[in-house]
Amino acid sequence: MSVEKKIKRVTVPSIINMKRNGEPIAMLTAYDALMSEILDRSGIDIILVGDSGGMVMGGHENTLAVTMDEMIIYTKSVRRGVNRALLVADMPFLSYQCSESEAIRNAGRFLQEAGVEAVKLEGGKAVAGLIRKLVQYGIPVMGHLGLTPQSIHQFGGYGVRGKDSMLASQLKEEALLLQDAGVFSLVLEKIPAALAEAISMSLQIPTIGIGAGKGCDGQVLVSHDMLGLYEKFKPKFVRRYAELGKEMMAAFVHYIEDVKSKKFPNEDESY
Ligand code: KIV
Repeated sequence: MSVEKKIKRVTVPSIINMKRNGEPIAMLTAYDALMSEILDRSGIDIILVGDSGGMVMGGHENTLAVTMDEMIIYTKSVRRGVNRALLVADMPFLSYQCSESEAIRNAGRFLQEAGVEAVKLEGGKAVAGLIRKLVQYGIPVMGHLGLTPQSIHQFGGYGVRGKDSMLASQLKEEALLLQDAGVFSLVLEKIPAALAEAISMSLQIPTIGIGAGKGCDGQVLVSHDMLGLYEKFKPKFVRRYAELGKEMMAAFVHYIEDVKSKKFPNEDESY
């Protein structure tokens, strides 16, 4: 018999149970195997291959440009680093809006080709029917309400959503609608903390907040933001846990100096 300790994997039901047990859920993003391997070993609950990969990996200005095929490549790579955490892939813009059959096929590709346990997609009423179908076909879905970056041109910017009472009531209704459609969890992005708390209390499924205060059942950040690797802008809700961008710059500059001054390589680094 193997003496190796069996890894207890995070599953969709175990995420729902975390809410029942009052255990906060920690989620971060990854887009490659190196990052996901470190993240998985850190004890993170959920790894999201976000469409934010289009910005941090692809260098695009927003999340709209990343394609299904690019997301599959990122996700396959992330899968190779993950043994324990729940792996969720973001459905990119136009992968689920054109037709139901295309959406089901694309969601299925993430499970079949990239080995994820669930997909995430943005929207409320407009996607509730599709979510119901995906769940019926055995594809777990994480919802996403509030500031949904794929609709950025409609919103006209990255401002806080749900500050006025009409939009706040709509978000509350849509959260219940998505729960009814079968989502196992719900990302709430950039909405007032009091609204996020009220939504979280009204639901049986966990909410995972980003810029939505501490009343959510879990929190998510883009890893490259919290590591200080993505330096183009820093929203107020990002807490920087490291300054890796600055450290990398210092290391690169040091290396260049050493090469130019012939300090690298030395004898120990030579054959
Ligand atoms: O794309 C992404 O990384 C996301 C998270 C920020 C929730 O959707």
